[in-house]
Amino acid sequence: MCGIVGYIGQQQAAPILLDGLAKLEYRGYDSAGICVFSPDGFCVEKTKGRLSALSELIDDGKAITGTLGIGHTRWATHGAPSHENSHPHLSTNGKISVVHNGIIENYLLLKDYLLRHGKTFRSDTDTEVVANLIEYYYEMDGDLLCATRRAIEKLTGSYALGVLCIDCPDSLIGIKKNSPLIFGFGKGENFIASDVPAILKYTREVVYLNDGDMVVFNSDSAAFYNALGEQIEKKPEHIAWEMSAAEKSGYPHFMLKEIHEQPKALRDTISPRIRGGRVVLDDLDLSPDYLRGIRRIYIVACGSAYYVGCLGKYILEKTCRIPVEPILASEFRYAQPVLGDDTLVVIISQSGETADTLAALREANNLGARTLAIVNVVGSAISKAAHDVIYTWAGPEIAVATTKAYSTQLSVIYLLAMYIGDLLGTLPEAEYKSMLKALQELPDLLSSVLTTEYLDHIKHLAGELYQNHDVFFIGRNLDSATCLEGSLKLKEIAYVHSEAYAAGELKHGPISLIEQDTLVVAVAGVPELFEKTMSNVKEVKARGANVLGLTTEDLEGEIHKTVDRYLLVPKTHPLLQPSLNVVPLQIFSYYMALARGCDVDKPRNLAKSVTVE
Ligand code: AGP
Ligand code: GLU
Repeated sequence: MCGIVGYIGQQQAAPILLDGLAKLEYRGYDSAGICVFSPDGFCVEKTKGRLSALSELIDDGKAITGTLGIGHTRWATHGAPSHENSHPHLSTNGKISVVHNGIIENYLLLKDYLLRHGKTFRSDTDTEVVANLIEYYYEMDGDLLCATRRAIEKLTGSYALGVLCIDCPDSLIGIKKNSPLIFGFGKGENFIASDVPAILKYTREVVYLNDGDMVVFNSDSAAFYNALGEQIEKKPEHIAWEMSAAEKSGYPHFMLKEIHEQPKALRDTISPRIRGGRVVLDDLDLSPDYLRGIRRIYIVACGSAYYVGCLGKYILEKTCRIPVEPILASEFRYAQPVLGDDTLVVIISQSGETADTLAALREANNLGARTLAIVNVVGSAISKAAHDVIYTWAGPEIAVATTKAYSTQLSVIYLLAMYIGDLLGTLPEAEYKSMLKALQELPDLLSSVLTTEYLDHIKHLAGELYQNHDVFFIGRNLDSATCLEGSLKLKEIAYVHSEAYAAGELKHGPISLIEQDTLVVAVAGVPELFEKTMSNVKEVKARGANVLGLTTEDLEGEIHKTVDRYLLVPKTHPLLQPSLNVVPLQIFSYYMALARGCDVDKPRNLAKSVTVE
């Protein structure tokens, strides 16, 4: 999920690898390493922590001779950040060296097979199976290309790989599926990298590899192969961007890039956990007996993660018939919560370091509850302190305003709800199947929303509405929780005062704030409550409100009768609908912020990780 750089040429490789990795630092990472083909064989240096520590260790690369090498910054997914788990990984006999970005979903199965065939493992990573699998096939016929191809045919999941073999001192292999990898044409030198900034200093002629593509190259030439193993021609593209745009893959802001990364983040988080038509949470150590005995679930978090918890209440209560209470982490500690061994405390955090959330987690542990963390950063304080962890595989999130982490947290709530509901028998099989189907379709459905046309439409709306100073978000049931997130997004990046209310609650007070042209965003994505929400829309319209409606495509004919403007999303399973509804709200805030001249990625007064109480 982070960075790969590969180099072959006439220059000393290590400084170039370190320099390239430094240009990928913006992607976030927890450890770094390089492997250079030195006169004495592979020279592997790696370390947990910052790249500067690695540079110091090897005198900025000057200490390592050799003109061919691979480098990696790791964002841990399998195994904590540590020296052993850092890449590159060597195969059992040390002949194959691999760097990998992504997740090998079937690594346990492959590891078991390889262990039975005499291979050994030094790390907890999924990556090591790749090195050993290539070695396994390479030993059969001594053809590295063929061995790599055979190995990757066995892999499911996502990977960008750089592969070196001790018997091939003048070539490097790059290959990818569902994780980015580019090839860079130099003069008497060639590169692979996970993103353009790593090699921009050396070349602007790059090839974006497609899924299944493989490149085998030396310093003067490169051969490209497609997924069928056929040799193909690839024409380089000229990169005209400057460095700051390149870091964002051409997007003007990290937030927009991360909005677009949501389908992939969802796929990475969901698909490894669905096997044989069932949700499988092998990361969980919770016994079925324990789960059957749960009487109450608390969901504890801050900000957007707490709003995922608010959705979690509806979703888990409906599927598991267990009372669920979302509670802000900063309130949890002092609320004297009633906890016991029949209480499951679910903690949600992108960073895994939020001070309030961590303190609440420790409190829950002290009070004897079982704690389960949904976290994005492997090895973070929260992931270590909780009894169980389910990781969201969103990859590093750079923008302060969360988008892809929020979406993946929500997808884990679905997985958990289905898992527990299935176990308790509270989720009928037909409903289970329908949720499962919708969950598997969700990444593609989300992709279908993220079109240029759709974004332009929202940009246009924002252009008309950006001068509003007060905005109300209203919705019922699941939509009321989505409104909380939509409202927070607008506050934090566009600096617009906004409130989110359950639509039926407005008439109990806040409706007095509705004046001529007050902007009301009405989310109406729960089919059976559509009419009720429209009644609330009529109430605010009667008082002069200007209403932006949001509903599913099938209700276009209905919504346009009541609201002033509207946005549509595809229809999915009712419980999963919030995953799609939130996306136009994210985009709306983004364009509102732009129209208002705000710093989208680094909004004022906010930090990405809040480590003070
Ligand atoms: C979301 O856009 C915010 N930046 C903020 O509310 C965030 O969700 C909250 O601080 C929790 O952070 P965490 O997920 O890292 O614990
Ligand atoms: N899944 C691999 C690991 O945990 C690669 C992670 C990455 O993409 O950096 O080591």
